[in-house]
Amino acid sequence: MTPEKLMELAKEAMERAYAPYSRCKVGAALLCADGAVYQGCNIENAAYGPTNCAERTAIFKAVYDGHRDFTAIAVCGGPEGKIKNPFPPCGVCRQVLREFCRDGFTVYLADGEGNVQTYTLAQLLPYSFQADKFIL
Ligand code: THU
Repeated sequence: MTPEKLMELAKEAMERAYAPYSRCKVGAALLCADGAVYQGCNIENAAYGPTNCAERTAIFKAVYDGHRDFTAIAVCGGPEGKIKNPFPPCGVCRQVLREFCRDGFTVYLADGEGNVQTYTLAQLLPYSFQADKFIL
């Protein structure tokens, strides 16, 4: 699975976004260690707080299906689904990723010019609260 192909799947997922309030569509495609891919979109709510980000939609779908070993996630988004800038995962999504993913987990972001930027989870969430050092 190339970063570009994973990003294509994130763009496909973005079209499923339910975002009538922010009008910002976000898509994610999560690559599992066994090659399976889970797609997610943001799902907003009139009460705002219950809104679920695209990344968490993908992760929760995958975990429910029995996956806990992840390699990478591609994320893209923008107003009305027009990708203009990178759409980095929010702090809550970074922490949810951290529950299952280690430092080298890769995050791909669409930059709006047709390129894919590459980050590690360690770059996006350094000095983090780690489940593997907490669970006895
Ligand atoms: N959003 C995501 O889906 N992922 C992120 O990591 C950042 C924010 C969504 C939530 C909301 O529906 C919209 O983007 C605007 O914040």
